[in-house]
Parts: sequence; structure tokens; C-alpha cells
Amino acid sequence: MHSSRTGAAAMGSPPPHRLLLLLAVAAVLPRSAAAAEGVIRLPRGRACAAPTDPAAYDRPVIGIVSHPGDGAGGRVSNGTAASYIAASYVKFVESAGARVVPLIYNEPEERLLEKLSLVNGVLFTGGSVKSGPYFETIKKVFQYVLDKNDAGIPFPLFAQCLGFELVSMIVSKDNNILESFSATNQASTLQFPNYSSLEGSVFERFDPDLIKKLSTSCLVMQNHKYGISPKTLRENVALSSFFKILTTSPDENGEVYVSTVQANKYPITCTQWHPEKAIFEFGKQMIPHSEEAVQVTQNFANYFISQARKSQNRPPADKVLDNLIYNYSPTFIGKKSKSFDVVYIFS
Ligand SMILES: *[C@@H]1O[C@H](CO)[C@@H](O)[C@H](O)[C@H]1NC(C)=O
Ligand SMILES: *[C@@H]1O[C@H](CO)[C@@H](O)[C@H](O)[C@H]1NC(C)=O
Repeated sequence: MHSSRTGAAAMGSPPPHRLLLLLAVAAVLPRSAAAAEGVIRLPRGRACAAPTDPAAYDRPVIGIVSHPGDGAGGRVSNGTAASYIAASYVKFVESAGARVVPLIYNEPEERLLEKLSLVNGVLFTGGSVKSGPYFETIKKVFQYVLDKNDAGIPFPLFAQCLGFELVSMIVSKDNNILESFSATNQASTLQFPNYSSLEGSVFERFDPDLIKKLSTSCLVMQNHKYGISPKTLRENVALSSFFKILTTSPDENGEVYVSTVQANKYPITCTQWHPEKAIFEFGKQMIPHSEEAVQVTQNFANYFISQARKSQNRPPADKVLDNLIYNYSPTFIGKKSKSFDVVYIFS
């Protein structure tokens, strides 16, 4: 095992400090005699409890707001009450150790509030609808996020693509704040206009090499027609006091839009791009699936759920079970639509 590790390291020619680290780790590791003999020794008479950090909640649950439609352009359901959550968002959350409660956008408000009382954070997905009952539900949930945090209860929000656009409309109180961009089915780079702004953000957990790769290789997936330019964000007092810009990206015509933001005073991160797709969606040809693209996604998932672990909400386990997304069956739509491989449809 040790020789194959150092062998692989030599082949990949890591930077010298990495190699030193690997060698140091190899030197510190016990010679693993037991493993070599094929025997696994368990500690006797002692349960091995996971270390507990009283400040962290290790059973976080995330609410995801469903989006109108079936996710397949009506090919699976034309029901007017139908809504869906792409399974890629659910798996994104699950991949970092959390479970999901679907916040079905057109359920009665009491149900929405009941479900919000069971979760430790929320996620707004991509999509297209910017008005009507869906937008009203997003506004209510966004206000809930602000209220919880204002009351000193950490409650993170991660909003992607349409989710970011809607949050920009809500914060600016301007439904016409968005601008047109050509970034449909496009892989892009992330540019970092201000490295100091990355402090305390998701990018703090990135290896500097990966940050560099993000700015030179197209590691993230864009799929949007709207967005917000850095100029518009900076010139809008409400938006520029609420958010700091972490990254920007160029569209197909070189027009630059804001691609990642973080709220100054809230655990709210928004991306115009789609971290979930690198690992869980294969329908569109441009989605990056490289190991680095996957690491970017994993860092975002782990960061978001690390914020949810700070939640003090400890909902009753039976109520959580009754509302988990596991009460619904996902549907494979990848042969009918290129938009998503698997969706949960609520009707
Ligand atoms: C939904 O409506 C469209 C357009 O009328 C039709 O092509 C499609 O087959 C319908 N879908 C279902 C599941 O019935
Ligand atoms: C860069 O970010 C830091 C930290 O958020 C901020 O104080 C500073 O004003 C920013 N600089 C520019 C040029 O925007």
C-alpha cells in the first residue's frame, strides 16, 4: 500500500511540498502488520464513539423548494399542480451528509412553515419561473432565512442559477434587475476579481491549485439566459451592501456576469452556475465531469452542509422521517429529456 502510494505520487509528479507530506504520512503510519495478515483488530471492550462537537449538529436536514412542472417539458406530467426537484440537487445535499425535505411550492402555507421547522437550511434550485405562486413561495422562504439568522439562529441558504436570480430580484426589490447573457449549455471558468473577498467563503477550503485551475479551465457548468453584471450589482445599493462578489465569468460573447456571491452578514451563498451537475447530470454534452470539476462540487456541498451543522434546530426524528424526500420515488427521465437524468415529481 505504501509503495503504491509513493509510486503513484512519483508518477503524478506532485509539487515537492506534497511529496514531502506524502512521505511524512507514510513514515508516521504504523506498518499495518494486522492488515498485512488479513486480520482486523478491533479495540476490546470499548465502543468507538465518533468525536462529538457540541457546537455541530451531525444530522442536518435541508429543505429544497420544488419548481413548477415535471422537469421534462410535460413529457411525464402535464398536471397544472405538478412540481419537481431534480434528484441531482438532492444527491448534492446527501453527498455532504445531509438529508432532504421537499418544500413543495404550492402546498398550503402551514405545511411550508411546518416543514421549515424541520430543516437546518434551504436550497433554491435552477429553473425558469420568475413570477406567480412560485416566486411568492421563494420570497417567503427567503424572508424566513433572514428572520432566523437575524434572531441569532444560523440557517444557511444556497441558491443556484434561477435561485440566485430570484434572490437578486428580492434583495434589490427590482424585478427588472436581471440582464441578458448567452450562457446556455456552456462550461466556463470562474474569475476571482478580489482574492481578499474569499476570506470566510467556500473558496477557503479550496486547494490553491484548484483555484488557479478554476480560473484557467472550464470546470463549471452554466445554463442561463439571464444574470447580473458586476457593474449593475455594485451600483445597486441594496445588492452591493448585501453581497460581496466572489467570482465572475464570461459568457459566449465575452460579456461578464457575476457567477458566485456570498452575503456579507448571512450564511447565504449563490451561484449562477450549477455545482450539482458535475457529479449527477449527464444529459447535456457541455457538463464538465473531470476529477477537478467533481472536487469543486464536493467543496461546495461540504461547505453548505458545514453551515447547516451550525444550526441549533433539533426537530423530532419521527416528524423528519414523515417528511423526508424518501417518502417519494424518483423518476428516470433521461431518455425523454436532456434537462435532467432523474427527478422527483410532486403532483
Ligand atoms: C403533455 O402535452 C403535450 C402537448 O400537448 C403532449 O405532447 C404530451 O404528450 C403531454 N404529456 C403527457 C404525459 O401526456
Ligand atoms: C476586496 O475584498 C475586501 C474584503 O471583502 C474588501 O474589504 C475590499 O474593499 C475589496 N476590494 C475591492 C477593490 O473591491
